[in-house]
Amino acid sequence: MALVAPATGCSKEARTLGPDLPATAPNGPADPRAAKYEGNVYQVAQGDRYFTWYGCGGCHGSGAQGAANLGDQRWAHGGALDQVYAFIARGHRGKLSAYGDRIPAEQLWQLTAYVRSLPRLAPERRRRQDLDQIGEAQGRIWAGPVQ
Ligand code: HEC
Repeated sequence: MALVAPATGCSKEARTLGPDLPATAPNGPADPRAAKYEGNVYQVAQGDRYFTWYGCGGCHGSGAQGAANLGDQRWAHGGALDQVYAFIARGHRGKLSAYGDRIPAEQLWQLTAYVRSLPRLAPERRRRQDLDQIGEAQGRIWAGPVQ
């Protein structure tokens, strides 16, 4: 029996696959690849999942304050697509600044889309997400893939 891929689909949940996967960081605030990530329900949900798996939520949970508060609509290091991506990849101090080497570009795009979605959510919705994540595997601090 032949498998037939649906010709049309809901673009809000479109997946990126194969050659579509980004291998590099955004090349500016208006990189056209963002259209596949920002506001895409599937990609943002994947970012949410990696946020928990990689231990980001340990520091950036709902109680986090100051620059570590990702939901307050204030960005200490800039809220544009390329700025948020760059901070996640290289901005943290010490070991965490190697996220850019340890997390594949595709997932960094998803994490960026997720983090940038947080200030747009009502506080109770962010709290709800924190509660939902309790069921996910939690990394305290992720040290990279097993080698
Ligand atoms: C050990 C604690 C810790 C972990 C783990 C951590 N962060 Fe952070 N993060 C911080 C702190 C503290 C700051 C503020 C740093 C500063 O302003 O110099 C920050 C800042 C940020 C910012 C910039 C916020 C702004 O206002 O511009 C982003 C984006 C961010 N983190 C995303 C992430 C993501 C995504 C992960 C997981 C891949 C992660 N962080 C893991 C502690 C952490």
